[in-house]
This record gives sequence, C-alpha cells and structure tokens, in this order.
Amino acid sequence: MPESITITDNRNGQTVEIPIENGGVAASAWSKLLPGIWFYDPGFTSTAACESGVTFLDGEAGILRYRGYPIEELAERSSYLEVAYLLLKGELPTPAQFEEWRREITHHTFIHENLRKRFLEGFHYDAHPMGMLVSAVAALSTFYPEAKNIFDPESREKQIIRLIAKMPTLAAAAHRFYVGMPFVYPDNSLGFAANFLSMMWKIAEPRFDANPALAHALDVLFILHADHEQNCSTTAMRVVGSSHADPYSACAAACSALYGPRHGGANEAVIRMLTDIGSIDHVDDFVAAVKRGEGRLQGFGHRVYKNYDPRARIINRTADEVFEVTGKNPLLDIALKLEERALSDEYFTSRRLYPNVDFYSGLIYQAIGFPIDMFPALFAIPRTSGWLAHWVELLDQESKIARPRQLYAGEAERHYTPIGDR
Ligand SMILES: CC(C)(COP(=O)(O)OP(=O)(O)OC[C@H]1O[C@@H](n2cnc3c(N)ncnc32)[C@H](O)[C@@H]1OP(=O)(O)O)[C@@H](O)C(=O)NCCC(=O)NCCS
Repeated sequence: MPESITITDNRNGQTVEIPIENGGVAASAWSKLLPGIWFYDPGFTSTAACESGVTFLDGEAGILRYRGYPIEELAERSSYLEVAYLLLKGELPTPAQFEEWRREITHHTFIHENLRKRFLEGFHYDAHPMGMLVSAVAALSTFYPEAKNIFDPESREKQIIRLIAKMPTLAAAAHRFYVGMPFVYPDNSLGFAANFLSMMWKIAEPRFDANPALAHALDVLFILHADHEQNCSTTAMRVVGSSHADPYSACAAACSALYGPRHGGANEAVIRMLTDIGSIDHVDDFVAAVKRGEGRLQGFGHRVYKNYDPRARIINRTADEVFEVTGKNPLLDIALKLEERALSDEYFTSRRLYPNVDFYSGLIYQAIGFPIDMFPALFAIPRTSGWLAHWVELLDQESKIARPRQLYAGEAERHYTPIGDR
C-alpha cells in the first residue's frame, strides 16, 4: 500500500489523498491536489529543497557519512584531499586517480600576481581575513572568465581544482596581510595542510616544516568540516548556483554565509565564553546563570544533532594529540569541567544538549597558533569541496532557479501623494 495523508478541506468538505514519498510530500503533487495552499517555513526547517547523495546525516542517532562512508572511518584513515575527491566524484579514488588529483590540486595553489598585488594588498591595513577571503574568491571569476561555461565539463573540472587549491593560499595571504607580514608563496613539495601552515607562518627559513602531528590534526579537522549537507552556506551555494552564476561567485556567496556568527563563528564564541569564565572555580556559577536563561552554553546543542555530535567525539582525540605537541590550552580545563557539569545536569540532558564540533575545535585552532579571526577561514578552506560537490550535483539534476514564495505582510494598495502634500 502506498503511504498517503488524507486531508479534509473544511472550506468545501472535499477530501484529498496526498501521497507520501520518501517520508515527505512532494510540492508538485501537493500543489496539484491543493492548489493555492502553500507552506510558511522560514529557515526551511520542514522543507527539503533538493535531492542529494553527498552526505547522510541522522541527528537523532548521531550519524554522519560522506557518500556512505562513516565520518569516523574517514577521519581515522583518509586524508582531506582524498575526502574532497570522494565528495566530488562519489567514489574513493584509485591510487592513479588520487595521484593525478593530488598533482592537479598542488599545481594550482598559486594565485595570479595581480590578485595579490592589486587586489589583496589594496585592502585597508586591518581588514578582517574573512572579509578579504570572501572578496578574493569572488574576484577569482574575473581572472578565469571561462568559468562561466558551467556546462563545459573541462572548464568545470578546472575551476573546481582551482578553488580547492587556492583557498588555503588566499586564506593565508589574508592573514599575512592582516598581521603585516610578507606573502608566502605555496611550497608544492608539501602536503595540503602542511603547505597551508607554511604559508601562514614561514619567516626566513628556506622551507617551513610544520610539526607532522599538527599538520595531521589540521587535516583531520579539514575532513570533519568538508561537508554537512544542507547547512546555511551550502544552501547559499545552491541558491546562487541555481541562477547559473560561475562557481567563484557562488562560492563567494557560500563564504559570506559562513562568515556569519551563527554559522562559522560558534567556535570563536566558545573561546570567548571560556575566557570570560576565566577559571574552573567559576564554572558552577556560569552553569547556574545559563540555567536561569542568562546566555547559552556555547558549543552545546545543535539544530539537527540531538545526540552527541559524532564530529565532537573525533575532535576530542585530535585535541589530545595537538596538546601533546603544543602543551595544553589553558582553557581546556574549564572546557572539560563545563562538559562534565553539563552532561550530568538534568537541564542539559533533558533538552538533549551535547557538545557539538565547535566546543573543542576553537581550542585546537588556538593551540596550533591560529588567531580567532582566522577561525571562519579555517572552516571555509575544507568546506569548499562540499560546496562544490553540491554545486555539481545541482547542475546535473535541476534546471529550476531557486525562488521561494513569500507571505506578504505589507500595506494594501494605496496611492502616491506628492512630497509637498505629506
Ligand atoms: C545550535 C542551536 C542554535 C540549536 O538551536 P535549536 O535547535 O533551535 O534549539 P532551541 O534554541 O530551540 O533550544 C531548545 C531548548 O534548549 C535550550 N538550549 C539550546 N541550546 C542551548 C545552549 N547552548 N545552552 C543552554 N540552553 C540551550 C534552549 O534555551 C531551549 O530551552 P527551552 O525549551 O527551555 O526554551 C543552539 O543549541 C545554540 O544556540 N547553541 C549554542 C551555539 C552553538 O554552539 N552553535 C553551533 C552549532 S554547530
């Protein structure tokens, strides 16, 4: 028996059967059966805007899989570049495919000199690195005008490689400018994460060899952040992509969405919260204040995870590995005590509030040496592969431009009066 919902229209007594497909209702079926009746759904909390095969997420069960592979296995055994390939192509690469992919990405890490000299160096001296990154990504479309040929497979592949390869270079360039240090060219003898660390911190040494444990930890964080299905920035990528804009412009929109504190800024909020708490002696007072409704426990709770965020579990281990090298982040003890208190408190457990990925990621970034202003850029670098995977999927499956309806709540018709009569 096909599943359906029976709806009685009390305006005219008519009954309609609405078919249920994949656990939901297709708007096309709905609008034919109940013309003119539509949904008011700000934030799209009850709306599936697309069909996607990239990432599976079950927030109730705490499951996250990229193309079917559990995030735990990928974080443990894969590398960010391999995961980027998987997200984009749908399958893990063979050794030959991976070698070609790695070579291509490595050889596109350089940026046009004019992008650096005339564009990036034109920013105000204290420009926020994420503001610079958003603008630089958009500016790339002017350097590669063939990017607008989005249905040419060769051009599409080229832009994908360029974007994944150049994000670390642009992010590091923005940081160097912000702190008044000279730009560091990519070192193509280094791996993806190690090269980024070199561009961030190299000074006068001929070659910057990052501590391998730190480069590996960063690579794991890149894997964990590579995709998260239809989040705000991916939706921005899809919406702009649906107008057939070139991928740089669409990616700049996605980066802008990530810049917002509600999306890419939560780990920063965690660091600020831990700094404000200041000592483990103040944890109980802080928790009591949160329970009285005075602020939130940052890094706790999630719109979709109502169980432990699987990424937070992996990050716990990564944090240990990083702190072994860098020494413990002094804020860690406060974080651990906060977690322990919250997880044994009925207020948090009854609301199913568990640590999310941001609870520990900021502590790791800070211990590695990244300034807080770089946190959203560290998120944007790996998420680029996820954005692009969704963009490719969108172009291959849909031709409709995103165009939601609105609930008009403004004035009824009225007539213009000349300015002197008002
Ligand atoms: C992520 C977040 C926005 C999800 O929100 P949501 O699913 O819309 O949940 P709600 O805001 O409806 O919260 C449900 C209940 O839990 C409480 N709650 C949710 N997150 C909380 C937190 N971090 N600290 C304290 N209480 C919290 C709310 O006050 C509400 O309580 P009530 O039912 O008594 O009113 C929210 O948990 C939050 O603000 N977390 C902190 C910021 C953060 O870490 N964001 C990163 C997400 S990756």
